[in-house]
Amino acid sequence: MIVDSHAHYDDEQFDTDRADVLKRIQEQDIVRVVNPASNLSSARKCIELSEAYDFVYCAVGIHPHDSQEYSQQSLEIIRKMAEHKKVVAIGEIGLDYHYDFSPRDVQKQCFAAHIQLALQLELPLIIHNRESHKDILDIIKAEKGYNAGGVFHCFTGSVEMAKEVLDMGFYIALGGAVTFKNAKRPVDVAKYVPIDRLLVETDSPYMAPVPYRGKRNDSGYLSEIIQKISEIRNTDFNDIAMNTTQNANRLFGLNL
Ligand code: NI
Repeated sequence: MIVDSHAHYDDEQFDTDRADVLKRIQEQDIVRVVNPASNLSSARKCIELSEAYDFVYCAVGIHPHDSQEYSQQSLEIIRKMAEHKKVVAIGEIGLDYHYDFSPRDVQKQCFAAHIQLALQLELPLIIHNRESHKDILDIIKAEKGYNAGGVFHCFTGSVEMAKEVLDMGFYIALGGAVTFKNAKRPVDVAKYVPIDRLLVETDSPYMAPVPYRGKRNDSGYLSEIIQKISEIRNTDFNDIAMNTTQNANRLFGLNL
């Protein structure tokens, strides 16, 4: 029993074979998938997927890449969508200073507004952070985002950053990066995170783990990530699978 805490099956890369992939991954022991949205139209697709597939849950929100879509109006649409019973989080939201697809001040406003929404709706946050460590922590503190709780997805920060995030009560999700040949930080973090605060994810269709790096990713490859983490932590596959599944169920209120 494995939960993929972050995958994007609404992505167009699955347009030709989505149903096949979703059927196959269930046969590969994936019992739950949390599918975060990236913008409004993606959020609609995510909800449709969660309606069509019992084992798919979703999050709604505007990704930093798309934060130019953010307005009072779009936030109200997100609020309405979040009432759906399969919506278990607000996400994915955050800051991305690597690509800077949206101006930074717009990204910051969009992120802060989503934190306020999550607090009002009592939903956890799914946070995307790329090269924006200081600002992301500053905004979370200013908006009291730690009261909403949530997860730092695809965590690639240092152990020091992990400590700060864990001290605020957040979970840390590790993905394909932990398997990469030159992975140093994710490996250190995989050792460091307490077992009851760790999640696993694929971020499909991106970030496929070794030995599939560069290919389209899907939740079937999550076992490679769990295997690697279990080696790093000197434990067995089932220990990581069981604990990360329990953690995802607790954070997102999934029923199993
Ligand atoms: Ni993502």
